[in-house]
Formats: sequence, C-alpha cells, structure tokens
Amino acid sequence: QAELPEGYKLRALRSEDYEHGFLDCLRVLTTVGDISRQEFDERYQWLAKQDGTYFILVIEDTNFNPPRIVGTGALIVERKFIHGLGKVGHIEDIAVAKDQQGKKLGLRIIQALDFIAKETGCYKTILDCSEHNEGFYVKCGFKRAGLEMAHYH
Ligand code: ACO
Repeated sequence: QAELPEGYKLRALRSEDYEHGFLDCLRVLTTVGDISRQEFDERYQWLAKQDGTYFILVIEDTNFNPPRIVGTGALIVERKFIHGLGKVGHIEDIAVAKDQQGKKLGLRIIQALDFIAKETGCYKTILDCSEHNEGFYVKCGFKRAGLEMAHYH
C-alpha cells in the first residue's frame, strides 16, 4: 500500500469538510454548483442514514490550519438479487487537487475504497472513466471491461 505524505490523513468525509475545501476539491472533476452549508448538510445527513451504502473518503492535509481537503473518492455498495444476493462496489467521483496530483493520493483513495468494497462483501468493484484516465486505473489494478452508455436528462 502506498504511503501518504507527512501530515496527510485519509478518513471518512465529515460535515465540517464543507469549510475545509471539500467542494473545491471536487471542482477539479466537474461542475459542482453553488451549494449552501444547509444544502450540503441535508445531503450529508441523508447519505449517512443509508447504512453501509455510501462511503465517501477524503485525504486532508493537516499541515494547514484549518486542514485542507486535497483528495476525495466515493464507494456505493449496490445490493443485487443476482449472484445469490450479490453486492457490487461502484467507485465514483475521484478527485485530487491540481497541485497535489502525482503524489499517489489517487492511488491511496482507490486502494482504500476497494478495501471497503471487499470488506462489505462486494464480489467486484467497477467504475467508469475517460480514456485519458485509463492508465491511472490500470496502475490501481483495474482493467477495461465493457462500454459505458448514458442517457442525460
Ligand atoms: N494516465 C496514466 N497514468 C496516470 C494518470 C493518467 N491520467 N494519472 C496518474 N497516473 C499514474 C501515475 O503516474 C502513477 O504512476 P506510477 O505509480 O508509475 O508513479 C499512478 O498512476 C498513481 O497516480 P497518483 O499519483 O495516485 O494519481 P493522482 O493522485 O494524481 O490522481 C487522478 C489521479 C484522480 C486521475 C487525478 O489526476 C485527478 O483528480 N484528476 C482530475 C479528476 C478526474 O479525472 N478524476 C477521475 C474521474 S473517473 C472517476 O471518478 C471514477
């Protein structure tokens, strides 16, 4: 397992990460929009109630005061009927702050999410990514499988 740099910690998302740059970290991935403290908290509390389904991890840099969120990623555990009530882990929304890329933070996040997937009984972990990121996920031990289809609303 890759080591984290000095003062960096990997842990579950907390409500106060709103103040520590969690949404800015996600902005390297895509549009986030204007989300108020209250809106953030409502979504956070809803996710927390879905026991054993949503796992959102962050890496914080505690060399800053207050600490700064420099990476994040999510795992959603899907419960199926097939494969004897099998579970599948879905990795989503992986983002590492621009100035922090290339320090193996992304790799550490994927390793931790995949570990949670295994521990919660998922028989596989899957994700969608662009061609541009294929090499990163190959380094994380994933391989190309299938084709994504989307219908945007
Ligand atoms: N293509 C090929 N190899 C790559 C890429 C890439 N795009 N990015 C990283 N790697 C390699 C690294 O060189 C490293 O290789 P090494 O072990 O030989 O040194 C290895 O993959 C691990 O790299 P990390 O340092 O852990 O990568 P980083 O912390 O920079 O995170 C990430 C990678 C998450 C893709 C980051 O660049 C990022 O946040 N990009 C913008 C947002 C994004 O595209 N997120 C992924 C969307 S897909 C999804 O969420 C399911």
